Amino acid sequence: MESTSTLKKNILVTGANGQLGQDFRKIATLFLQCNFIFVTKEQLLITDEDAVNIFFKNNPIDICINCAAYTAVDKAETERDLATSVNATAVGYLAKACRIYNAKFIHISTDYVFDGKGTNPYTEIDVTNPVNFYGETKLNGEHKALKENKETIIIRTAWVYSSFGNNFVKTMLRLMKIKESIGIVNEQYGCPTYAADLAIAIMQIITSNNFIAGIYHYSNKGKISWYDFAKEISLQINSHCVVNGISTKEFPTPASRPFYSVLDTTKITDTFHIIIPEWKDSLKKCLSVLHSQK
Ligand SMILES: NC(=O)c1ccc[n+]([C@@H]2O[C@H](COP(=O)([O-])OP(=O)(O)OC[C@H]3O[C@@H](n4cnc5c(N)ncnc54)[C@H](OP(=O)(O)O)[C@@H]3O)[C@@H](O)[C@H]2O)c1
Repeated sequence: MESTSTLKKNILVTGANGQLGQDFRKIATLFLQCNFIFVTKEQLLITDEDAVNIFFKNNPIDICINCAAYTAVDKAETERDLATSVNATAVGYLAKACRIYNAKFIHISTDYVFDGKGTNPYTEIDVTNPVNFYGETKLNGEHKALKENKETIIIRTAWVYSSFGNNFVKTMLRLMKIKESIGIVNEQYGCPTYAADLAIAIMQIITSNNFIAGIYHYSNKGKISWYDFAKEISLQINSHCVVNGISTKEFPTPASRPFYSVLDTTKITDTFHIIIPEWKDSLKKCLSVLHSQK
């Protein structure tokens, strides 16, 4: 008879020191039916095709969740080769290794595959047209994943924050402590995603044993601007820092941002029966985790 451990699903999480990767580490203990293998950039450089193949050859993997990415949106405009190799070429390596070694592939993509000219939440079949180079590399990564491996789930997410790593929420907490007022863009709309919620949703898909390949959208529920997000952070922490709305022109960045990138999450909800938390509730959870770490 096989031991329980051999019946466990072996789940590889790449980019394990990133925001999402660290949230996976945190929730891993909740899923005893799975055996997690977390690899950081230092342990598995996904841009090294030989290293990827050797890793899969030596480790039986059932599902690979790719949390590794080049996420410096502005720097991607100039570090084009690096952004392309991590977000596109390497995604092809992982997807191919998964196909060869019979593993399913879950890859994370972004709302930045859209141009943001829409006015309704983007569905998975809406036309993509990235407005910055990061978005282009992520879109190419999607194409490579789907070309190399039919057993691929791509989850496009948006405005990711976490108690780990650097993100908008942590930047706001820092600025609200030291500044009397801040200006935050009030004309770009989307919905934030608490990485811990996304990690749980992905585990729900995996443990449902209902792996239906394809593209899915996941963010928390709601439609807000960055200004709304900052205002709510300020409210929830009782900050006296004044939050002013500013235009995109007043906060120029090397990479353009889509003006509207709200994701329609109906497909992932309906397919996997996932209940998505409201953005304000998730923000509360994250702030409480951060508060408890003080
Ligand atoms: N952050 C967002 O707002 C956002 C929005 C939409 C979609 N997404 C997507 O969501 C996913 C998770 O994002 P995240 O915020 O968790 O990203 P993150 O915090 O930047 O983590 C990415 C991780 O990947 C690692 N990495 C970079 N190059 C690598 C390589 N060649 N081999 C192996 N690992 C490598 C990074 O290591 P180093 O830090 O040492 O380079 C980092 O630990 C990504 O696919 C991202 O594109 C993010």
